[in-house]
Amino acid sequence: MKELTQSSTLKELYSTPIGHDTIGRVLLQLNLSEKWITGSFIGNLKLKTLMKLTKKSLGEGFWNALLHLINQEKDLPLDRTPEAMPKEPKKAWWKEAVIYQIYPRSFADSNGDGIGDLKGITEKLDYLKELGVNAIWLSPVYDSPNDDNGYDIRDYRKIMTEFGTMEDFDELLKKTHEKGMRLIMDLVVNHTSDEHEWFQKALQDPDSKYRDYYFFREDTGKEPNNWVSFFGGTAWNRYPEQNAWALHLFSKKQMDLNWDNPNVRDDVIDMINWWLDKGVDGFRMDVINYISKEAGLPNGDEAIGSMMMFYGIEHYYYGPHLHEYLKEIQDKAFRPHGAFSVGETPGVGREMAKLITGEERGELDMIFSFDQLDMPGRIRFDYYEYDLNYYRDYIIDWMEHYGNNCWMSLFYNNHDNPRMVSKVTKDPAFNVPVEKLLAVMQFTLKGTPFVYQGDEMGLTNYDFHSIEELSDVESKNRYRELLKMHAPEEAFRIIRTGTRDHSRVLLPWNESVKNLPDHLIQQPDESITELYKDLIRLRREHPALIYGTFKVLSRKKNRFVYERSDGSENFVIECNLSKDARPALFRPDGYEPVLNPQGTGPVLTPYEARIYRKKTEA
Ligand code: NOJ
Repeated sequence: MKELTQSSTLKELYSTPIGHDTIGRVLLQLNLSEKWITGSFIGNLKLKTLMKLTKKSLGEGFWNALLHLINQEKDLPLDRTPEAMPKEPKKAWWKEAVIYQIYPRSFADSNGDGIGDLKGITEKLDYLKELGVNAIWLSPVYDSPNDDNGYDIRDYRKIMTEFGTMEDFDELLKKTHEKGMRLIMDLVVNHTSDEHEWFQKALQDPDSKYRDYYFFREDTGKEPNNWVSFFGGTAWNRYPEQNAWALHLFSKKQMDLNWDNPNVRDDVIDMINWWLDKGVDGFRMDVINYISKEAGLPNGDEAIGSMMMFYGIEHYYYGPHLHEYLKEIQDKAFRPHGAFSVGETPGVGREMAKLITGEERGELDMIFSFDQLDMPGRIRFDYYEYDLNYYRDYIIDWMEHYGNNCWMSLFYNNHDNPRMVSKVTKDPAFNVPVEKLLAVMQFTLKGTPFVYQGDEMGLTNYDFHSIEELSDVESKNRYRELLKMHAPEEAFRIIRTGTRDHSRVLLPWNESVKNLPDHLIQQPDESITELYKDLIRLRREHPALIYGTFKVLSRKKNRFVYERSDGSENFVIECNLSKDARPALFRPDGYEPVLNPQGTGPVLTPYEARIYRKKTEA
């Protein structure tokens, strides 16, 4: 690719994958549309002019960092004009699947200790089968001191004691397969626990071969750089007896692995193969786009740091060897086992995602991008009403540009987020219609739906009463930081909006929830569960809803009408994205309603979603 310089125009920068997604992220943050670049004179400005103009707001560092990232990416984006794309997506089991995420700690408790466990999951396999899911993704079940609920792994080849034993795991795997479902594990290899044997050996002996498994730096009186941790404060731990610092992008007990060390890659790949040999079907890969860090770990740019809230991020969110390392895992572990992979890739947008998931690239099958979870200029700790028009535009943008050799993951919830329904509406009277609308879209759009445990029960956010009711390390650290600037009530109010604990409370079907206060127990809504079953069945029985084309019929304000069609079948989905009743736009002549509990009259009720299928000629 042509080297870009300060004489390149903003449009030229924006036409590259990294430029597109990074500038796109800034636009999102500033709540500006891309027309600002593509449709105005600003796009034709040379970088050096822009640098002068934005000297005060962005500083030169932002543009230099961007140029560096763009020029570092040597691969040309694939020609994705519709003519150049395969006419149809290739078939794969994971494209047809509905994947159900289990957060083991709060899913099913088989022994009444108030903590979910593996036996509990095995007992619920029939429930999951009946729901219609094809695969389960298990959040980490490995041995861990639980500083970050299992995302801090002490031993990759051992099961966490609270969750059971390796025999329990083997039983779960066997039964899952017997029931015709697949099991996907969480792979957390950006970091290990500080209690992992590798880190312990590295810490105890500076000459150990494990020292270079992590990022140790000599103590010269201050942190080796200005990077901050996602969970608050500096990203460096100081070890005074060692005269050293070590890097942790997450909690103080989650130490970053140095992937530039080939021994780290070999050991991690061995471990992956060990699980694949056992028979697991694939992995969800935790913050996998962070594994390659810029050599020398340079300071993060101040302006980027304040804008993104994380100093240093430009040096690792799309690091120099990311593609190389992903290919290595694919070649040495995933491909030989036919394993499935989905990467958790915060900050990666549509164009960068193509470079990671394009079928021709041999890296990952899918990624999770997160830009749909909050509105532009908002973060999850902001209390606001999420406008579904934004979700519609986001989805249309991806569906129209991602191309047939990439495949999307479709999700609203996971263990790191409050429930989407509670962002969309603050009025409990609308919870059920919103949940149904979200479900209809999730199972009729093009991509693989990921259901988060409890979505199918209609769970919403909890009315936590105090910080003591929260257990998440992120919430606790953030609360402590907020207390420096806010009164305790205000700090708690902010945390309550965004805490990950909303999705981590024990599911209400457990006997042991009885021990929780009333406000932490919700009644599952059976009408939602039934709708999930119907929608999952509908999707399974009609390939048009999986592989069929996606066409927008209307994107007027508060409307989303689209068509899915595969030549032999044709579906139209009409959604009312607002809390007001609205006249139906789609005239269903020649169509029949499918699963439309509210009927097919001339008016859509608040948040109503309807599905129609074209009648086949008799
Ligand atoms: C992303 C995971 O989803 C989250 O739960 C965890 O805290 C961080 N990665 C660190 O592993």
